[in-house]
Amino acid sequence: MDREAWNQRYADAELVWSAEANRFLVEAVTALPPGRALDLGAGEGRNAIWLAERGWHVTAVDFSDIGLQKARRLAEARGVEVDWIEANLRGYQPERAAFDLVVLVYIHLPGDERRAVVRRAADAVAAGGTLLVIGHDRTNLQEGYGGPQDPTILFSPDDVTDDLAGIDELRVVRADRVMRPVMTADGERNAIDALVRAERRSADEGAQRSAS
Ligand SMILES: C[S@@+](CC[C@H](N)C(=O)[O-])C[C@H]1O[C@@H](n2cnc3c(N)ncnc32)[C@H](O)[C@@H]1O
Repeated sequence: MDREAWNQRYADAELVWSAEANRFLVEAVTALPPGRALDLGAGEGRNAIWLAERGWHVTAVDFSDIGLQKARRLAEARGVEVDWIEANLRGYQPERAAFDLVVLVYIHLPGDERRAVVRRAADAVAAGGTLLVIGHDRTNLQEGYGGPQDPTILFSPDDVTDDLAGIDELRVVRADRVMRPVMTADGERNAIDALVRAERRSADEGAQRSAS
């Protein structure tokens, strides 16, 4: 979907997504000490705001100005500050090695574009920091529920691991399919998500590796 399509989707006053942070992001981040976070494709801001409420200094990027307006209003209502940036992830170059946490949550692009965005996201992770990629898994189309119906923009945990290949300082610590129960008119269904968590080696680990 292009920027105009996202703006149309966000045009209603109601939130398209919930105001609650994504459950897998909450699980992965709760134990981390707050630092600088980068939320790429932040939408209406639910994850960025949740992070800011926990003491993170958050930069949140999206190309939808309407989505970002809603995010700003939600942040104001919740009493937190986030640095909102309107930019297209296809060209956006985040500051390198600057963020303790970088998240991409339900950002679906064709494979070559996803790879470029994931690699720039990885470059933005500081030593000792974490990269978290969450999205609708490729198998969700046939076996899960909801999400984009275009197979060319869905991905698997292995796709994201492959996207990160060759970035030596980055260690993939989790690459899984995870079930997300969704309440529907026909009862509870499982959406299938792909989740990849990677960590950039700390300065100490890097030094040990080059000494060995
Ligand atoms: C499914 S929403 C997810 C929003 C948010 N991450 C969340 O979990 O609530 C996808 C978001 O990605 C944004 N997006 C998609 N392609 C983008 C691009 N090329 N550059 C910037 N933002 C993009 C859309 O505007 C939309 O807000």
